[in-house]
Amino acid sequence: MSELERDRREIASVLQQPGVRPDPDLKITRRTFLHRSCLTGAATVAQTFAWWPLINTMDVAFGAEAPFKFAWISDTHLYPKSLNTRFVDKTVRAAKEVQAMNPPADFLIFGGDLAQLGKVEELELGNELLKEIKIRKVFIPGEHDWYLDMGKKYGELFGQPHWSFDHKGVRFIGLDTVSRAPDYWSMKKMSAEERMAHMSVLDGTVAGPWAGVGRDQLDWMSKTLSTWDRNRPVIIFSHNPLYEYYPPWNFWVRDWRDVHEILKPFTKVTNIHGHVHQVLYNEIGSMRSIGMLATSWPWPYAPEGVPKLTKPMIRVDPGDPYDGVGWSKFDMPADDKVSTEYIMWGRKQVFAQSTEDSKANIPEILRPRIADNMYPY
Ligand SMILES: [Fe+2]
Ligand SMILES: [Fe+2]
Repeated sequence: MSELERDRREIASVLQQPGVRPDPDLKITRRTFLHRSCLTGAATVAQTFAWWPLINTMDVAFGAEAPFKFAWISDTHLYPKSLNTRFVDKTVRAAKEVQAMNPPADFLIFGGDLAQLGKVEELELGNELLKEIKIRKVFIPGEHDWYLDMGKKYGELFGQPHWSFDHKGVRFIGLDTVSRAPDYWSMKKMSAEERMAHMSVLDGTVAGPWAGVGRDQLDWMSKTLSTWDRNRPVIIFSHNPLYEYYPPWNFWVRDWRDVHEILKPFTKVTNIHGHVHQVLYNEIGSMRSIGMLATSWPWPYAPEGVPKLTKPMIRVDPGDPYDGVGWSKFDMPADDKVSTEYIMWGRKQVFAQSTEDSKANIPEILRPRIADNMYPY
């Protein structure tokens, strides 16, 4: 049995106790759309019809006091403009689209990896570009923002890397899952640039399993939640997923057991995370977990450990920098639902009409190109 398989079985034995499930009141509805490709404009429609989910939307029933929306952008991985404007252009586009939301989102969460190599000019560039968005903005760090100066510039620009606030009946928590890598640099006398270079690769060759929450932050989280009713909704933002998906790429936090121990009594927990740059969904114990798109590039799915509940997005067009990337919208309407919509940019517009479960009866032009086609309804 591989080490990963052993870890996986351990997770199952710890968390998947008989009867432990996400709150049955939290119903997930995935919307699917009848897809047909559209060549240009409305005149010529290719004769291709298929059941093809275009966006992964999830409706989660919960007790928000009033309807509201918020938006997520992450993993912009900005280089200085003089070096590369491709990622700049995509950040600008996401910012404009968030700002154009009507009605406006209540706030934007930026989920980390604003910069590529943690440079002052990269972080400042990101801060400038996001000024296009006038609504409230909150930030959590990614490893690319941190390991050049160990969070100094990030802190100057965005403040504390972890925080919590209450909004319309929901407790929101922002976690820092990146700053607690074991010190592998001092003994080797690495320069700050060398350290950052190691942290900026997906497999963390030297840094190993660096993603974690840390004892001090776990204690803080426990204290923060001690004043919150166990049946009220909690939404936790983190850069890395709060469960084990694939440790070699730090698609996890190494202290996931402690995180879940704290969350166990709460019935309506949703974790929204970045870092994986892909459509991802999982349920662990009573927690639901949703992975977000990057604006920069899509990572492939890991060779093992993709959650069974994930409907993977299909492989993107490598010639199209706007394929498989984008941002996300969260809509919390009055009927006590949370709708998550991936705004996945694509080269082609997709002409689609919704099936009966979307309640829409007219064809729509959807920006997302593809969510997946693996498990058609
Ligand atoms: Fe990233
Ligand atoms: Fe990351």
